[in-house]
Amino acid sequence: MELLENFNLKNFNTFHVSAHARYFVNVPDLACLRDALTFARARGLPFMLIGQGSNILFRQDYPGLIIEMNIRGRKLVGENDTHWHVKASCGENWHAFVQWCLENSYYGLENLSLIPGTVGAAPVQNIGAYGVEMKDVMLSLEALEIATGELVTFSNADCGFGYRHSVFKGDKRDQYIIYSVTFALHKQAVVNIGYASLAKALEGTPDPDITPELVGRTVTEIRRSKLPSPSRLGNAGSFFWNPVVSREQFDSLRLEHPGIVGYPDGDEVKLAAAWLIEQAGWKGFREGDVGVHSEHALVLVNHGHATGAELVDLSERIQQSVVEKFGIRLTPEVRII
Ligand code: EPU
Repeated sequence: MELLENFNLKNFNTFHVSAHARYFVNVPDLACLRDALTFARARGLPFMLIGQGSNILFRQDYPGLIIEMNIRGRKLVGENDTHWHVKASCGENWHAFVQWCLENSYYGLENLSLIPGTVGAAPVQNIGAYGVEMKDVMLSLEALEIATGELVTFSNADCGFGYRHSVFKGDKRDQYIIYSVTFALHKQAVVNIGYASLAKALEGTPDPDITPELVGRTVTEIRRSKLPSPSRLGNAGSFFWNPVVSREQFDSLRLEHPGIVGYPDGDEVKLAAAWLIEQAGWKGFREGDVGVHSEHALVLVNHGHATGAELVDLSERIQQSVVEKFGIRLTPEVRII
């Protein structure tokens, strides 16, 4: 195990902010992961796992051990009449895994193309985009129980998935480390093109031509047109959750703001946080090196040398102005450390 000290995390968070970890270790296998946990426990240090740092904002240095999860591997592990069962280790890059599945005709992940991050991080926040969420495609996962060092299997139902939520952010927070994820992927080319902007982009394409490969390419194009690539402009995708309000609250908001964007979510309504932020005047805002993306108001960006504290400060100003204009408090989706 190679421990690095006072390690700059600039290349390990997609906001590309500078913050130092007291210790940093790259973990390529389970034995090394167990050693890293033993080291942290022996020193009484806090520790934190990092995949590609695509949902994290460091507002200050980290006083403990950062564990970079780099455990790799992907393979077909089973099947039934309709589905392939495909297993991937936690350190696999998400988008590369999606592409590999498509190349092998394992269908179902194409709507989740181009999401930054790793396979292991994906279930924690039940990643979702263009009408598909992790909960729709996951069969089970293996996680290391931190207290015992044992691997435990979680079924899909055990994960308690909700909108950008799972037990790993709730009741079981900080108790498990996701080691591998097994997906149930269609043998037949089934496509899901119900999401409005995806359906619009495919309008006019004859049905037989709408293959999973085309869906994957279309989602990739939509994302590229709206969301900045972290390799060019520091960001962590949507900074806030889309707030969910009651139908009554939605109706009264709509009276005052007729253009408000909301989608039915069970008995409630999920509001487009991007719309609220844009209406509050923030879209394209820039001050020094912090800003709000000009193509999508839900994305905060680092134009170069922004600090984590400056980005947090901007997020708080946005929250405050949305409260003042709409009476709604946005909650960060990004994990602020
Ligand atoms: N809109 C605006 N202004 C903008 C952008 C969007 O008013 O600048 C309005 C439009 O009316 C648009 C609506 O907001 O129709 C929804 O926008 P979009 O389809 O881009 O989706 P979103 O709700 O902003 C969510 C996820 C994204 C995911 C997309 C597509 C959350 C917090 N975000 O964004 O996930 O890619 O749907 O499914 O649920 C992420 O989690 O980091 C992420 C990027």
